[in-house]
Order: sequence, then C-alpha cells, then structure tokens
Amino acid sequence: MTAAHCDHTPPSPWVCRFAGHVPAGGTVLDVAAGGGRHAEYFLMRGHPVVAVDRDTSALVQLAARGKWTRGALEIITADLEAGPWPLAGRRFAGVVVTNYLHRALFPALVGAVVSGGVLIYETFAVGNERFGKPSNPNFLLRPGELKDVVRGQLDVIAYEEGEVDIPRPAVIQCIAAMRRS
Ligand SMILES: C[S@@+](CC[C@H](N)C(=O)[O-])C[C@H]1O[C@@H](n2cnc3c(N)ncnc32)[C@H](O)[C@@H]1O
Repeated sequence: MTAAHCDHTPPSPWVCRFAGHVPAGGTVLDVAAGGGRHAEYFLMRGHPVVAVDRDTSALVQLAARGKWTRGALEIITADLEAGPWPLAGRRFAGVVVTNYLHRALFPALVGAVVSGGVLIYETFAVGNERFGKPSNPNFLLRPGELKDVVRGQLDVIAYEEGEVDIPRPAVIQCIAAMRRS
C-alpha cells in the first residue's frame, strides 16, 4: 500500500489519547507517515515532526499547506525495509507508528525513544484476516507482541488488543509505552 492509497482520515483516537504523554515541544517521529495525519496532529500541538515514508508525495503536499513554524516538518523519503535505518543516532520524544508493521524495525523504533519519551503504536493483529486486509501474517501482530517488544526497555502506559468497529471492523493491537527518565 502506498501513501497515496492511505485515506486522509482523522488521527487515531489511540494516538490522540496518549499524545499528551509526549514531552512538550519534543520532536516526534512519524514512521510510515502516509498522508501525514499524525504528523499534522503533532505539528498542530507544537511539536517538531520528522515524517518518514517511502512515498512522501502526500507529506510534501501537507508541508505546502502548513500553518506551523517553517522547518517544523522534516520529511525523509526512505524505504524502511531496504537499507539501513535512516534515523540512526537520532532520538525522539515521541515515536508514532500506525497501520504499519515491519518487525525488523522493532529494535530501532524502541531505541529511538528518548529518556522520558513515548512510543505510541497501533496496527492490525491476528484475527484481522476475518475482516479483509491486511491478512498476511507478516503484517499482523501476534497476541501480546507489542508488550513483548518493549519488555525490559519501556514501561507500558496502556495496552489493548481486540476487535474494533471504527473506522471499520478490524482486529488491532495498540500500546503506549514510556522510557523511564
Ligand atoms: C496503511 S499506510 C499508514 C499511513 C499512516 N501511518 C497512517 O496510519 O495514516 C502505510 C504506509 O506505509 C508506507 N510504507 C509501506 N512500506 C514501506 C517501506 N518499505 N518503507 C517506507 N514506508 C513504507 C506506505 O507508503 C504507507 O504510507
């Protein structure tokens, strides 16, 4: 799925719920940012944002419409599944991932959370195949998987998994987890 194919839907309620845990003014990394709904949300909350995707056409359009401080949105075009992690050595007050899963990135995503910062992750989980795509197990989290990913590194603020009806019937898993200061 390309960024152009991602609906410009409102920000995820899960992301909104935990956005306040991101330290004020800290830079947020939006991974596989797509149309930039979360990049825009955090920009509007006064956070600088780094948005990365292999298809940044929608992000470039977002930047052109931007009402926020010049330079607050950094766009990085990168294939996250080929080549090195493009944010090596950088740390973020918030790391946001929604509707995207590439398991090899888990260490980099957790490692990118600064002390006192937050990982907010929400994507599809096993069982979603009953409702349609994604149905490939490579793109579906296993039960408890996000808790396993952060265990021993980040403190879980909240975790949920199960069926949802909105914005459409799906099985999802989500976590908000903080690196202790
Ligand atoms: C379903 S969209 C989700 C977009 C956004 N996170 C959201 O929830 O609105 C998946 C995004 O992952 C991006 N993506 C898929 N494979 C990628 C890769 N190998 N490297 C970088 N981005 C990728 C797509 O371009 C697309 O923007």
